[in-house]
Amino acid sequence: MNLRARISASAAVYDVARVRADFPVLSRQVNGKPLAYLDSAASTQRPRAVIDAVDYYETHLHSNVHRGVHSLSQLATDAFEAARERVRSFLNAASTREIVFVRGTTEAINLVAQSWGHSELKPGDEIAISALEHHANIVPWQMVAAATGARLRVAPLDAAGQLRFDEFEALLGERTRLVAMAHVSNALGTILPVQRVVAAAHARGIPVLLDGAQAVAHEPVDVRALGCDFYAFSGHKLYAPTGIGVLYGREALLEAMPPWQGGGDMIRTVSVERSTWNELPHKFEAGTPNISGAVGLAAAIDYLESLGREQAAAHELLLLRAATTALEAIPGIHLHGTAAHKAAVLSFTLDGVHPHDLGTVLDHEGVAIRAGHHCAMPLMELLGLPATARASFACYSTLEEVAQLERAVRHAREIFA
Ligand code: ALA
Repeated sequence: MNLRARISASAAVYDVARVRADFPVLSRQVNGKPLAYLDSAASTQRPRAVIDAVDYYETHLHSNVHRGVHSLSQLATDAFEAARERVRSFLNAASTREIVFVRGTTEAINLVAQSWGHSELKPGDEIAISALEHHANIVPWQMVAAATGARLRVAPLDAAGQLRFDEFEALLGERTRLVAMAHVSNALGTILPVQRVVAAAHARGIPVLLDGAQAVAHEPVDVRALGCDFYAFSGHKLYAPTGIGVLYGREALLEAMPPWQGGGDMIRTVSVERSTWNELPHKFEAGTPNISGAVGLAAAIDYLESLGREQAAAHELLLLRAATTALEAIPGIHLHGTAAHKAAVLSFTLDGVHPHDLGTVLDHEGVAIRAGHHCAMPLMELLGLPATARASFACYSTLEEVAQLERAVRHAREIFA
């Protein structure tokens, strides 16, 4: 089925009013106006199913995990490990040994940089990234590069914000030890050709880490089909609570990596002289984890799959198209990021109006967008912009909200004219 047919088929079956009713916060007003929450790329809202799952856990099941012989500890451990299995099946990973719970994407990438990077990188080694990375996929590599003598190589973009694939491939050489790249750009919405990236890197024996923060709620993610070596994502961009995220890592790689944080649960034995490590994935989970967050994440995955991931994604694409058409028609608007393959992110500027001022006027109209550098300062520098305004869509966003956005931007234009 082609894209147009998919969009109209999905519009026919996708009942966004029913979906919205699942998200309590969306019925509130902001500044006396109905809330148009168009900042889901920063953080998605939580459906009642996630709120209830966390509430049930906190009310009936909470205890510490992997530690107690008592019944409540066993129940909490079962809930936590069931959440890990839910994540495994969501990603189609081969084993729960490959699913490490972390605080979020940032912590997942720092884990790989600190553990794998410190043990593997030598002076002169290279880490290849793209020019559109989030700071979370730049700074951890800079830190480990400074400590090991390695360096970053940056693959360029074309004018639409797409990876220049040939130039990316030309960067890969004898010294390239890792490719670390976004699956979807948070600032531009570009969907990167990750399967080709992985194939090009693997053809040269180079492992690949994908930053899936912006992809996981919008794109199918099958780590075995992608073939990536590491995949990082955050729960709070997937309708789950904050403070929980996942690092998927291929078992052989994780097995060979040293722990990065020491403490309880990550050890097998400890004496004053030395310690030995627990098995995967616990070797990378020092201290008491975010148990209720993991339970919420599993509920969020159930929720998203109950909507139909394809249907939700097609709905978001419909909104992206509508918003692009609506904003393009406003004089003085510039869209940034016009890749052929985009997720539900629309970055724009309005002549003569700083994005922060635009964001403030939109907020008065009940429209929540993000304005700023989107934690992608090197990309903003490349675009020659201090910041952009960014509207982003999720499974609960509507055409009415797109219309509210358009009216608010036109209103801002009149105010600043
Ligand atoms: N990384 C998040 C964003 O893009 C916070 O807004």
